[in-house]
Amino acid sequence: MDKVLILDFGSQTTQLISRRIRDLGVFSEVIPGDVSAGDLSLEDVRGLVFSGSPYSVYQEGAPLPDPGIYELGLPLLGICYGLHCIIRHYGGEVKCLEHKEYGRAPIYSCKKTIILEDVPDGFISWMSHGDSIVKIPKDFFVFARSERCPAVVGNREKKIYGLQFHPEVTHCEYGEKILSNFVFAICGARREWNLDSYINDTMIKIKRKAGKRKVLSLVSGGVDSTVTAGLLLKALPADRIHLLYIDTGLMRKGESGEVKKNLLALGAKNLYLVDSSRRFLEALKGISEPEKKRNTIGDLFIKVQEEEVKKRRLEDAMLAQGTLYTDLIESGKGVGQKATIIKSHHNVRSPLVEKKREEGSIIEPLEILYKDEVRRLGLKLGISREIIERHPFPGPGLAVRIPGEDTEEKCQILKEADAILIGELKRRGFYNQIWQAFCVLLPVRSVGVAGDIRKYGWVLAIRAVNSIDGMTASVFPFPMEQLVEIASLITNAVPQVGRVVYDISTKPPSTIEWE
Ligand code: XMP
Repeated sequence: MDKVLILDFGSQTTQLISRRIRDLGVFSEVIPGDVSAGDLSLEDVRGLVFSGSPYSVYQEGAPLPDPGIYELGLPLLGICYGLHCIIRHYGGEVKCLEHKEYGRAPIYSCKKTIILEDVPDGFISWMSHGDSIVKIPKDFFVFARSERCPAVVGNREKKIYGLQFHPEVTHCEYGEKILSNFVFAICGARREWNLDSYINDTMIKIKRKAGKRKVLSLVSGGVDSTVTAGLLLKALPADRIHLLYIDTGLMRKGESGEVKKNLLALGAKNLYLVDSSRRFLEALKGISEPEKKRNTIGDLFIKVQEEEVKKRRLEDAMLAQGTLYTDLIESGKGVGQKATIIKSHHNVRSPLVEKKREEGSIIEPLEILYKDEVRRLGLKLGISREIIERHPFPGPGLAVRIPGEDTEEKCQILKEADAILIGELKRRGFYNQIWQAFCVLLPVRSVGVAGDIRKYGWVLAIRAVNSIDGMTASVFPFPMEQLVEIASLITNAVPQVGRVVYDISTKPPSTIEWE
C-alpha cells in the first residue's frame, strides 16, 4: 500500500498532517524526525513530509533531518520548520523575524506551480512562525508570498517543496487541496487506504498471528476494547476468544449489563463478567489520597486479572488489546517520540501485558488507527452508536469523581445522579455536542429545605467540557435553563443530593477530572 511518511520534529500539529493525508485515502505514518536514512524502510513510501517544530533551525539542539534523507530522491514537503531545514540544507538562509506571523495570513501566488494547482491566486493561510527565509537556495523558486516572506517555495526537478504556513490546520484555506497536490500530483501516490481494506488486512493478520491459540481480551465497555473484540470475533471462531470484564463497582449505573448485551450481540461466547465490587470497595476503605486510590485500584485490578487468567486456564493465550496509534505515541513507545509529550495517563502497567508483549503474544489491531478511524471502523463492524459515541471514561472509574474516601453509599448516589445527567443530555440532544460530561460528588454537605424540614445534603458538581484529545478543555456553554432543569431532576430523584453546582473551569489550569 502506498504511503507518505511524516518526519516529526515536535510540532503540536504533526499528527494532523498524517490525519489529513489518510483522509485523502493515502496511508500515512509519523516517524521520528532524526531517523537515519539507512534505517528507513522505504517499501511503498511515495513521499516524505518534514513537520513543524517548536525549535528554530539555527538553535542549538534543534532536531535536524539526517542529510542522507535528501539523497533518497523521494518527493519532499517541508512545513514551516520543515521548510527551513530544506532551505538551510540547500544553502539558503533562515532568520528570526522582527514581526512574527501567527494565525490568519493572506498568501499571494507569484509563479505557477503544481503544488498550488487549482488554488486561487490569493487565499488565507494559517501561520505560526517566528523565523523566515531571507535567502532562497540556488535552483529554488518562490511560488507565493505572504505579506512579509516567501510562503511557498520549491524545486520542480528535485520534487522538493516547502510551505511557510500549515496546510494541515483546518483554518488554512485550500490546505487539503495543497496536501492533495503534493500526495497525488507530486508523489504519485495511489488512493489505497480505506477502512474496508483495513478490516480485510487486519483479519488476515489476526488469523496468521493467532494461529490455533486462544485469545484473551480485556474489555471495559469503552469504544477501543469493544471494537477490538468486534474485530477478533470477525476474524476468529468465537469459541477461541475469551473476553474478560472486571466490574470494580466503580462503573456507571447499569454498565455491566450493557457490556454483556453489546458483546453478546457481536457474537461473544466466552464472556467472563467478574463482579469484584466488594473487593474494590474493601481495598479503598480509609484511603482518601488520590494517587493512593489510583494505585490501590490498579494493583487490585492486576490481581483480579491474574486470578481470572489462572482460573480460566488462559495463561498461554494470546492477549489482544485496543491500543491506539496515539496511545503508543503518548507513552513514547512508538514513533514520533519527539512530539512534546504533555501527558501520559496513570493507566495500569499490567505485568500480564508486559509479559505478553515480551513473548510477542500480543495482538493490537488498532495500533495504527486514530480515534475517529476506530469509531468509523466500529460502525462498519455493526457496533451500536451508543458505544461508538460514548464519552471517555477514566480507568479508575467513579473513584476519581468522589474526592476523598469512596464508600458504597457515595458510589450509589453518584451512579444515580450520573445516570440522570447522561440520560438527560441524550434526551435533550446535548450528548454529542459535548466531549465529556459527568457528575462529581463533593465531600461537602450543605443545608437545604425539604418541605418544612431543614436537611443536610451532599453537594454535587456537574462537569461538561469540550476538547479534542483531553489535553486541554473548554467549558461547555450550557444553556442555563436546561442546566437548572437537569439539576432539579437530580435533586428530586436523588434525595441525598442537596445542592448542584456547575464547574466552569477550563483545562488548564484545572484538570477534567477532580482527582
Ligand atoms: P484530566 O483529569 O487529566 O483527564 O484532565 C484527561 C482525560 O483523561 C481521563 N482520565 C483518565 N483516564 N485513567 C484513565 O484511563 C486515569 O487515571 C484517568 N484520569 C483522567 C479523563 O477522564 C479525561 O478524559
